[in-house]
Amino acid sequence: MIRAQTILGSVIALLGVTAVVLVFRTPAEVAPARSFTSSQQCKECHAQEHAEWSASQHAHSWLNPDVRALSNDFANTDCIDCHAPQEIYSTGIGARVLPRASRRAEGVDCIACHALPDGGVAGTKDNPAAPCRPQAMASLKSVDHCAGCHDQHKTVSQWRETQYAAQGIGCVECHMPARADGSGHDHTMHGGHSLETVRKAVTLVAERSKGLVRVALTNSGAGHHFPTDERSRAADLWWRPVAPQGAPAESWRHLWRFRSPYRHEVDLVDTLLPSAATKEVWVDDPASLGAVEVALTYKRTPYWKDPLRPDPETEAEFVHRVVLQP
Ligand code: HEC
Ligand code: HEC
Ligand code: HEC
Ligand code: HEC
Ligand code: HEC
Repeated sequence: MIRAQTILGSVIALLGVTAVVLVFRTPAEVAPARSFTSSQQCKECHAQEHAEWSASQHAHSWLNPDVRALSNDFANTDCIDCHAPQEIYSTGIGARVLPRASRRAEGVDCIACHALPDGGVAGTKDNPAAPCRPQAMASLKSVDHCAGCHDQHKTVSQWRETQYAAQGIGCVECHMPARADGSGHDHTMHGGHSLETVRKAVTLVAERSKGLVRVALTNSGAGHHFPTDERSRAADLWWRPVAPQGAPAESWRHLWRFRSPYRHEVDLVDTLLPSAATKEVWVDDPASLGAVEVALTYKRTPYWKDPLRPDPETEAEFVHRVVLQP
């Protein structure tokens, strides 16, 4: 009897120890599979990435009023593809993306860029213990990752012809800089909505030469044409004489527009400025002999009123402005 009780006790104790070991071993090796239905859920553990992404155009791609207007509120269903995309690791890196049916308001979200078909996420190292189960994927940082959506207007093809491509400086190196605290990479992905980023793309020079004014714009900082991607983007060069003290301001004169026309604009030619290229314009006008100012402006759509016309007093935010003394 005593012996039987002892054996039974030992068996129970052994089972208990085994159970305790199982309970404590499980989480250390493989996190319970967790499936994600919204990018809101990633915020719980990746607040920094979520805050940056929320301020990005990617987060607004479905609700963006300009996109809504141009797509007739997505009645043009072709527009859904990239503005509310399926997971790109399922449709294929670099392949044409497909439209998704759910959580469209989240636009180009964490799940679209990171989710893997097996339930994990694309990361920089394998980490099966983390709840989202990251796997090291070299493709995450590659230009192909961006190409599925950003080569429709040849931004990636333009990049392939540049010095940056030759040096292995891809989209992520410029558009996702490392945060100062070393915690990861900025997900804001600035572009044409940030004047500061547009300023970094080009250098404006104005100088007197052979009795004329030479105006030169160089694409010194973009890893593709300037402007790029959206055909609606336009950059314009202007000049005007500086009026003598007390005299009314002169109006601005248009010099050049950098833009890729829409297909129906058959009378326009493509004037995008390739990476490292310089566009020169010469001002041959008696009025340019005195002090002059030269400016570059940028518009996200050509239908916006020109910032410098018709009212020359408009305080436009210049991308660059140079004043040249006689
Ligand atoms: C419950 C917490 C939690 C949630 C929710 C979560 N993650 Fe993670 N994630 C982690 C932890 C912990 C790590 C590993 C530590 C690290 O790299 O930050 C990680 C790592 C990652 C990495 C890899 C980082 C690298 O450098 O390799 C990516 C990418 C990632 N998570 C994306 C996501 C996405 C996208 C979602 C939402 C679909 C998500 N995570 C949801 C906790 C979480
Ligand atoms: C192949 C992917 C793709 C498809 C399909 C697509 N877009 Fe886009 N769209 C983009 C990308 C990428 C950008 C960002 C380009 C840039 O910043 O220059 C963008 C930007 C825009 C913008 C500018 C938003 C802003 O605030 O500056 C508008 C407007 C727009 N798209 C409208 C449309 C419409 C309308 C359709 C359907 C006719 C459409 N898009 C289809 C990828 C796509
Ligand atoms: C447009 C695609 C895209 C979107 C949207 C996106 N990511 Fe990323 N993410 C990347 C790329 C590319 C990297 C790799 C950056 C690198 O290593 O240079 C990355 C890196 C990360 C990392 C590793 C740490 C770091 O910051 O480098 C985490 C964690 C992460 N993303 C989480 C998220 C979460 C959470 C969201 C949504 C709030 C999100 N990402 C949205 C493309 C994206
Ligand atoms: C699944 C499609 C998709 C992928 C993948 C994607 N993007 Fe985008 N991206 C978009 C769309 C759509 C927009 C325009 C959103 C809007 O303005 O409504 C956009 C806008 C942008 C902008 C413009 C911001 C501005 O100020 O106008 C930049 C820069 C950008 N993306 C960089 C990247 C980079 C770098 C990658 C690769 C790491 C990437 N994107 C991957 C769809 C995508
Ligand atoms: C050497 C740095 C650099 C590299 C490399 C680079 N870019 Fe850019 N990108 C810029 C700068 C600067 C701007 C701002 C000028 C502009 O908007 O045209 C910009 C603008 C953009 C925009 C916004 C255009 C708009 O209309 O708002 C998109 C989209 C973009 N880049 C995508 C990409 C993609 C995709 C790649 C990789 C193939 C890439 N970039 C590589 C520097 C870079």
